[in-house]
Amino acid sequence: MGLRHAVLIAVILLAGAFPAVAAPRNHCLECHPAHYGEQGGCAFCHRGNQRTSRKDLAHGGLIRGRYAGFTNSRSAEVLSGGRLAEKAACRRCHVLNGTGNRPAANLDNLFWTTTPEAVRSALVNPALYMPNFYFSERDLDRLVTIILAGGVRAGKTLKEPPIVVYFSDTGLVKQNIFVKNCGSCHKLLSKQAGGLGTGNVGPNLSGLLSRFYPRSFEGNKIWNEERLKRWLKNPRAIRNNAVMRPVPLKPEEREQLLKTFAPSENR
Ligand code: HEC
Ligand code: HEC
Ligand code: HEC
Ligand code: HEC
Repeated sequence: MGLRHAVLIAVILLAGAFPAVAAPRNHCLECHPAHYGEQGGCAFCHRGNQRTSRKDLAHGGLIRGRYAGFTNSRSAEVLSGGRLAEKAACRRCHVLNGTGNRPAANLDNLFWTTTPEAVRSALVNPALYMPNFYFSERDLDRLVTIILAGGVRAGKTLKEPPIVVYFSDTGLVKQNIFVKNCGSCHKLLSKQAGGLGTGNVGPNLSGLLSRFYPRSFEGNKIWNEERLKRWLKNPRAIRNNAVMRPVPLKPEEREQLLKTFAPSENR
């Protein structure tokens, strides 16, 4: 075997060991112009499948343009979504962006487990113990965006047992101090007892004694046990125009009530 042959064989062997590295083709670009290219592939912001040129497959699990700002923690949508969630006090019932109470679903999981469309529809048709906020289309976009952003920031979820909000008409629930004295006008989602009360006359009191409830005591204060006691004694002493009447409770009933309100913050 001559030198020439040996060189040829070496070249062939090397070529086999180091095949030309071709970047996988991004089929999104067959139908769409590139944009935000400096920040990563299309799938980084839109999900979908870049490896097929069939639209339906490529769009599988697609995150639409209206939510795609979730990857940028300083985008206008993320910032205003965060403010909205704060104002609506979603965290008195949910964990969002790592903080909040735990009687209802951890919203940070939704990025990994469901679609933006399903999140949007959960806001439009809220579950039984979730208030209906009647958000505008624009605000729905912002809230879905902040929920996606929270999921990314929280990282891949720990396997958590799904939250089941249960309520029943067993005697136990009927004897519950909240159901008996407050439930005709208020609702409450309690981590220990599930959904309590059926009323819509007064506000949904979920998370009342946590830092995530709106600061509605005397203008701008958070609620605590002492303030709740004062309110129950005489709402008009706190708020001139209160409609709610005083609810006289025996000390042991008050203890039971406070237990029902015990916060369930995610720590
Ligand atoms: C075969 C062509 C085709 C391919 C491949 C394709 N798209 Fe599209 N895409 C379309 C068309 C057409 C629309 C217009 C709306 C529709 O028909 O769904 C669209 C709409 C979109 C929208 C806008 C939807 C909205 O409402 O905001 C996004 C985002 C998008 N595509 C992203 C992608 C990404 C990311 C990929 C690759 C993973 C991709 N597309 C691959 C054809 C394609
Ligand atoms: C860094 C995040 C990011 C990346 C990467 C990205 N996009 Fe987008 N995309 C967005 C945002 C945000 C919007 C919403 C409109 C805007 O801001 O331009 C959007 C909107 C769109 C739309 C809808 C346009 C419209 O007029 O509503 C399409 C289609 C789209 N992107 C396709 C793609 C494709 C294809 C790629 C890959 C080549 C890609 N995007 C990469 C963030 C991204
Ligand atoms: C008074 C309690 C309460 C408040 C406040 C509340 N929710 Fe909910 N939410 C619930 C309950 C109960 C459910 C249904 C059970 C579950 O999924 O945990 C739910 C479900 C959801 C779901 C669907 C979850 C899933 O697993 O698919 C989303 C999304 C959601 N809420 C978002 C929000 C956002 C955003 C806010 C603030 C604007 C908010 N919620 C405020 C109680 C609440
Ligand atoms: C007959 C109806 C009714 C009953 C029963 C009732 N409330 Fe209320 N409650 C209201 C109404 C209405 C409001 C709204 C403020 C107002 O105008 O009084 C309210 C407001 C409140 C607030 C203030 C919340 C906020 O964010 O402003 C608290 C706390 C509260 N109720 C606790 C209770 C508790 C605890 C019970 C039971 C021990 C109870 N309420 C029983 C009707 C009722």
